[in-house]
Amino acid sequence: MELADALNLADLEQIAASRAPTPAWDYYRSGAHDEVTLRRNCEAWSEISLHYRVLVDVSRRSTATTVLGQELASPVVIAPTAFHCLVHPDGELATARAASATGTAMILSSLSNTAIEDVAPQTQAPLWFQLYVYRDRGATEELIARVEAAGAQALFVTADAPLLGRRERDVRNRFALPPHLGVRNLLPSGYEELPTDRPDSGLASYFQDLIDPALSWDDLAWLRSLTELPIVLKGVVRPDDALRAVDAGLAGVVVSNHGGRQLDTSPATAEVLGPIAEAVNGRLELLVDGGIRRGTDVVKALALGAGAVLLGRPILWGLAAGGQAGVERALGMVREELDLALALCGCPDLDSLGPDLLHPGAGV
Ligand code: FNR
Ligand code: LAC
Repeated sequence: MELADALNLADLEQIAASRAPTPAWDYYRSGAHDEVTLRRNCEAWSEISLHYRVLVDVSRRSTATTVLGQELASPVVIAPTAFHCLVHPDGELATARAASATGTAMILSSLSNTAIEDVAPQTQAPLWFQLYVYRDRGATEELIARVEAAGAQALFVTADAPLLGRRERDVRNRFALPPHLGVRNLLPSGYEELPTDRPDSGLASYFQDLIDPALSWDDLAWLRSLTELPIVLKGVVRPDDALRAVDAGLAGVVVSNHGGRQLDTSPATAEVLGPIAEAVNGRLELLVDGGIRRGTDVVKALALGAGAVLLGRPILWGLAAGGQAGVERALGMVREELDLALALCGCPDLDSLGPDLLHPGAGV
């Protein structure tokens, strides 16, 4: 199949699977251990029914929204994913150009193959940065200063990866980066290379050696003292943790289980989003990711209380299938499906999405 023939994200996945080198593809698709959560993430969205409204004028529709104070053409943003150059030479540059062309935000991973200073000029849309906190706090502080200087507008601190989840394909492949690629954001600190001499995933070893497993709630005050940027905590699945994020003065939370790549058998995000939204009650911004593959999934996430969703793997499928054009296609497909779903739900815009779409009677 060619990119032009792809109708949906599953088609893009199929094209990507046929083009990506096997170790890269295994790295992208893997979940932890038995991949129970990876599967459940997708299933849980599809199990929710949409109770659409009728006879609403939907002749004019909008998918525009504001997230973290920034205007987006669509509530579907690019999740932070590592190592975009594994499947396309332009890597994160292509992804950023696609974000710009489609008017949506990109969250650049700490573990990108391209430095934030090179990515930032490629997009006019909001650029946010995902932070892994290194044991070397000095290096972490320098990275945050560079991120702010490069013009990133929010910091997403990933909380669900004190160690890397065990992805058995990566262990079997002894996953490592090809010699010409590195963790470019960490070049100045000397942490740009994944080890190649271990009987394990090179990325798991990198985490074990360098990422700080002692990171705790107490460190949020330190992070807040380093930057004016809004801080969003990524990887929350419990209402009490979301409430601690409110107490810590954070700007938002991403309800996420890391795409099923960390703790296997952790709950599907579609199951926990509602209770978390109820607990935080609008006191911070809620985003969600994990298994979002259709416009109707986005409708459900927003009806449950999220302000936006993140796409992880589908962006990488687009990138592998066709570089910038492929990522634009992935984002475009979901936005077009969202637009159709809004029309068929009797919702002309995102503000009209509410819990009654999931629980009929709630809107009476
Ligand atoms: C990720 N994810 C991730 N998260 C993060 O905070 N920092 C990172 O560097 C990465 N890297 C990464 C690489 C790959 C290959 C994948 C698939 C995922 C997790 C990502 O941000 C997001 O939470 C999930 O991918 C969302 O699930 P879906 O959309 O992939 O189902
Ligand atoms: C992953 C890390 C890098 O999921 O977040 O592979």
